[in-house]
Amino acid sequence: MLLEENKSLKPYNTFAIDVSAKYFTVFNNVDELNEVIDFAKNKNEKHLIIGGGSNILFTQNYDGIVSKNNITGIELVNEDTTYYYVKANAGVSWHNFVLHCINHNYAGVENLSLIPGSVGASPIQNIGAYGVEIKDIFYELEAYHITDKKIIKFNLQDCAFGYRESVFKTIYKNQFIILNVTFKLNKVAFYNTKYGAIEQELERMQCKDLSIKNISQAVINIRSSKLPNPKEIGNAGSFFKNPVIDETLYSSLIQQYPLMPHYAAPNNKQKLAAGWLIEQCNFKGYRSKDAGCHTKQALVLVNFGKATGKEIFDLSTEIIATVKQKFGVELEREVNII
Ligand code: FAD
Ligand code: EPU
Repeated sequence: MLLEENKSLKPYNTFAIDVSAKYFTVFNNVDELNEVIDFAKNKNEKHLIIGGGSNILFTQNYDGIVSKNNITGIELVNEDTTYYYVKANAGVSWHNFVLHCINHNYAGVENLSLIPGSVGASPIQNIGAYGVEIKDIFYELEAYHITDKKIIKFNLQDCAFGYRESVFKTIYKNQFIILNVTFKLNKVAFYNTKYGAIEQELERMQCKDLSIKNISQAVINIRSSKLPNPKEIGNAGSFFKNPVIDETLYSSLIQQYPLMPHYAAPNNKQKLAAGWLIEQCNFKGYRSKDAGCHTKQALVLVNFGKATGKEIFDLSTEIIATVKQKFGVELEREVNII
């Protein structure tokens, strides 16, 4: 195990927050992961596993060991008349996995193109975009239990996926390290273009034949037009979840704001667009020192250069309070605060 001390984490988080880790290492297989876990235990150090660092906000130096999962490889493990079963190791970059599927004609993952990060983190918050979540294509995963070092299989039910939720964020938080995920991908594609912007973009592209490649390209175009590229401006995508509210609050809000975007959610609830709520509070394009709110997508908080994690966090607190005061809606952070 190659262990580095006092290591800058700036290249390892897409917010580009300049903090350091007391110890840092990369593991390439389970034996090396065992070493990391033993080291943390013996030294009584806390441990943080990261993938691409694209859903993390560091608010201080990490006083422990940060380890980056670098177990790579993608394999077709099985197939039946309907599906390909494709296993990807946790260190594979998510978008490379999507490209692999498109190149091999494995359908179902194309709407999730260009999401940053790793395969291993994809089940943590059940990543989703453009009408698809990973729960729709998930088959099973293998995860390493940190305390007893056993490898446990989780099927779809075990993961209890919800909107930006899974057991790995709730009852099993910080207990498992995901090693690989097997996805169930369609042999015959069912194109999902119901998310309005996709159809518009396909028309703009003058796309005559629908294919997973064209849908992927449409999604890439839409995302690139409104989401900041972390290589240019630090960010972690949507900073907050879209809030789900009950019928009573929804009825009173829609009377006051008839143009408010809203989507039907389970149990008679309504999901609102946090970006719209934040924009209505005049935060879109807001900047305080180097912490700000993206000019094209108010839901994305950004680091213009030298913002600290605390400054971004404080801005998020101010946004939560302002939205609560204006709309009576409580925003919840999506990004993991460390
Ligand atoms: P990290 O940020 O490294 O880690 C996230 C959390 O998962 C941490 O708590 C970490 O400890 C834990 N973790 C990481 N790897 C493992 C593992 N192997 N086992 C156990 N725990 C682990 N998300 C969406 O859902 N939809 C989007 O459309 C979307 N768009 C984005 C756009 C941009 C520009 C950015 C920057 C982010 C976006 N995100 C989106 C958020 C992010 O890409 C996803 O949450 C992604 O899955 C995070 O992967 P990661 O490897 O970077 O995780
Ligand atoms: N809107 C505004 N102002 C803004 C931003 C959005 O009025 O500044 C409105 C839009 O006009 C639209 C609605 O809000 O009516 C929804 O906007 P958009 O389609 O951009 O999607 P979103 O709800 O803001 C969610 C996900 C994204 C995902 C997209 C596409 C969450 C928290 N965010 O964003 O995921 O890529 O839908 O499916 O659910 C992420 O999780 O990091 C992420 C980027």
